[in-house]
Amino acid sequence: MAVLEVKNVNKSFGKTKVLSDISFDVNVGEVIAIIGPSGSGKSTLLRCINQLEKPDGGTIKVCGKDMIKGYDGKKPLYNDSRILREIRLKIGLVFQNFNLFPHMNVMANITEAPLYVLKQNKAEVLKAAKSLLDKMGLSEKEKAYPCELSGGQQQRVSIARALFCFLMSLLVHLTRN
Ligand SMILES: Nc1ncnc2c1ncn2[C@@H]1O[C@H](COP(=O)(O)OP(=O)(O)O)[C@@H](O)[C@H]1O
Ligand SMILES: [Mg+2]
Repeated sequence: MAVLEVKNVNKSFGKTKVLSDISFDVNVGEVIAIIGPSGSGKSTLLRCINQLEKPDGGTIKVCGKDMIKGYDGKKPLYNDSRILREIRLKIGLVFQNFNLFPHMNVMANITEAPLYVLKQNKAEVLKAAKSLLDKMGLSEKEKAYPCELSGGQQQRVSIARALFCFLMSLLVHLTRN
């Protein structure tokens, strides 16, 4: 018996199509892994299943109960709250978490310490930060806030921030001595 039935789920963020016609079943006692590169949509899929994100199309059933009844354009029409509550009680989610500053975008997260603690030149810091973000495959996300990034992307920003601060302190040390 299928405890989870996902059919033709679609989800886009603006122009970025993150989930394209995803369908699969999970049967009683089955353990499955969803694998894919960072930013490919794994968490978005889990968030849709947990009602934390609204899909643009497709259906989701938990233990035979419909989570979504249909669509009003791209907006899902969820089942009544009693059914949704029953579904919620049967499903859980473990979050990935990184301690980025939630109110700052990626660039600000990375440049805060070099600018305000190490008091480095702003133009130079921004240029070096852009180059590092580019090397780490994050140049498109410069203006994104942590909540708009995948877990893996947040992890890379955390690594970039630590690395950048270290490199900048090294530079300060070398130029002073
Ligand atoms: N709330 C959001 N707003 C805009 N883009 C988002 C949002 N959440 C995720 N994304 C983007 O959707 C893509 C998939 O993210 P995600 O599902 O978290 O990936 P992962 O497979 O690493 O778990 C990424 O490019 C991410 O930046
Ligand atoms: Mg993820």
